Amino acid sequence: MRVAVGADHAGYALKTALADHLRGQGVGVLDLGTDDDATPVDYPDFAASVARSVARGEADFGLLCCGTGIGMSIAANKVPGIRAAVVHDRQTAVLARTHNWANVLCLGGRLLSIPEAIAMLDAFLQATPEERHQGRIRKIGNLEEEAGR
Ligand code: RB5
Repeated sequence: MRVAVGADHAGYALKTALADHLRGQGVGVLDLGTDDDATPVDYPDFAASVARSVARGEADFGLLCCGTGIGMSIAANKVPGIRAAVVHDRQTAVLARTHNWANVLCLGGRLLSIPEAIAMLDAFLQATPEERHQGRIRKIGNLEEEAGR
């Protein structure tokens, strides 16, 4: 498994801790920045890099960290094929995969402790999409096509 990770300055510390956790689990990590927390950067730039990487099939999943996870999710969801979810706990992390077939997880570095975030990331990666939601996912894809016209 390969996970593309990205963050702005507010999510840098969390991204670094989660990337280390993933490497420790034997998961491949494609780190697309940012590379420190001292320089303010714009979260849409990193959301775009990670989302495009997942959409191109260079990574199985994306992980995006900003202050809240919200900006990252809004930006990543503009990339066709991306279903980015900002989650709040282990349960919503699982549901984002099983019900919503999310392929990018967005977490808030200013809101979560590292152990909480690790629990959510592990739950997200271990959960499996449920087939019964396929029709709804197809309708999300239809909205992308409609927007492209
Ligand atoms: C940066 O200050 C902050 O606005 C950003 O990290 C994020 O929380 C936006 O959603």
